[in-house]
Amino acid sequence: MSYDLNDDIEKIFVTEDQIKEITKRVGTAINKDYADKDPLFIGLLKGCLPFMSDLLKYVDIKCSVDYLKCSSYSGTHSLGTITVKGDVPVVEGRHVIVVDDILDSGRTISAVKNLFMQNGAKSVAFCVFLDKPEGRVVDITPSYVGGLVPNEFVVGYGLDYEEHYRNLPYVGVLKEEIYTK
Ligand code: IMP
Ligand code: MG
Repeated sequence: MSYDLNDDIEKIFVTEDQIKEITKRVGTAINKDYADKDPLFIGLLKGCLPFMSDLLKYVDIKCSVDYLKCSSYSGTHSLGTITVKGDVPVVEGRHVIVVDDILDSGRTISAVKNLFMQNGAKSVAFCVFLDKPEGRVVDITPSYVGGLVPNEFVVGYGLDYEEHYRNLPYVGVLKEEIYTK
């Protein structure tokens, strides 16, 4: 029998239809707020990928797109430090919109904000698909939020558990037996 990823999911948290509504709503809001600002979207790899690509379908203003590879997570626990790998996008004089899959402690995004402000960005805003406010350690408020998650570990739609499940087309709660194995 082949392995079915869906069997590892306890319950679905955000459906494919909801994802479509969310990306449309957020994209439309950004169009309004950034109409004449030529923003630079910077996606945090790898979790941002599905959200970033769906979101950009609804963004119809002049803008540019780049990515930053960084990570702060190992398994289900935040390490509290970020590692930047590879090139840092040029942000000088730009209005930056950082796009990520989920905001938890806020450490990743606040470290990224500091980096971009030091490098001369005009402004740095955050756009996250999901927000887990209970996990917050750093005082940070995202400008655009797709939805809220309680303190549960979710996977799919870019979100991973040890690099797996990113390819699920929805967001679901992982069965506890998977990460306590
Ligand atoms: P923060 O620095 O604690 O805000 O961590 C944000 C990063 O942690 C996200 O980009 C995710 O990669 C990861 N993360 C936080 N919560 C979850 C989760 O429930 N599932 C999968 N990854 C998560
Ligand atoms: Mg991530």
